[in-house]
Amino acid sequence: MNIYITENIPSLNQKAANIIAAQIIMKPDSVLGLATGSTPIGTYELLVEYYNKGVLDFTKVTTINLDEYQGLAPDHDQSYRYFMDTHLFNQININKNSTFLPNGLAKDSNLECQRYNQIIQSLGGIDLQLLGIGENAHIGFNEPGTEFKPNPHLVTLTEKTRQANSRFFPSIDDVPTHAYTMGIKNILSAKKILLLASGTSKAKALYHSFLGPITPAVPASILQLHNNVTIIADSDALALFPQSMIC
Ligand code: F6R
Repeated sequence: MNIYITENIPSLNQKAANIIAAQIIMKPDSVLGLATGSTPIGTYELLVEYYNKGVLDFTKVTTINLDEYQGLAPDHDQSYRYFMDTHLFNQININKNSTFLPNGLAKDSNLECQRYNQIIQSLGGIDLQLLGIGENAHIGFNEPGTEFKPNPHLVTLTEKTRQANSRFFPSIDDVPTHAYTMGIKNILSAKKILLLASGTSKAKALYHSFLGPITPAVPASILQLHNNVTIIADSDALALFPQSMIC
């Protein structure tokens, strides 16, 4: 595990965008696992900038996202499809047919989870999985619980997560109660994992995830079992980490 501390959010984004850009340059047909949320927005902005400067070509890239709210249409401004289209896909030369998210409007949630799992399998492996982390240490929408769920599944969002995400909705009542997420096995199957975190609200989650026991009560703690995890975080998020562990 490599942990990089950054002075501020712009340098966090710079490091993250450079790692993703290097991945695409080294392997133009990379499969990227992507995340939404506020943390990676600046990273996506830089990837768009690199594309505009002619540094990156996305024509052969495939993306698969971690999660999507159940019940939101792709054109709903809080759906994760809308987020990805707006922040990244509509601004680069990626083939939209090569960008995958769960279908929030699927009629049968079991079938949707099976469909999404088949897509993940058919891609032949995620080269680089980008992750954020919830204040409760969720990854994707794998919420704290009593077991690690391996494959895509429908989640009942915790009140803490709905509260945290209510900043994007008119009120907490508008935040969906359920979401589809990739499972833990799907995430761990990625060849490389890049986790971004900023702010004091993530400090305990990071500490318990990487310095505490591996337990489904702390979903991100399972990342301790992956052999290629890079964490890029600011000093607030890393406040509880011993200096000796940080690059
Ligand atoms: C989003 C996702 C979530 C977020 C996490 C952190 O696709 O998978 O796990 O990464 O909730 O969100 P922010 O970045 O908004 O703090």
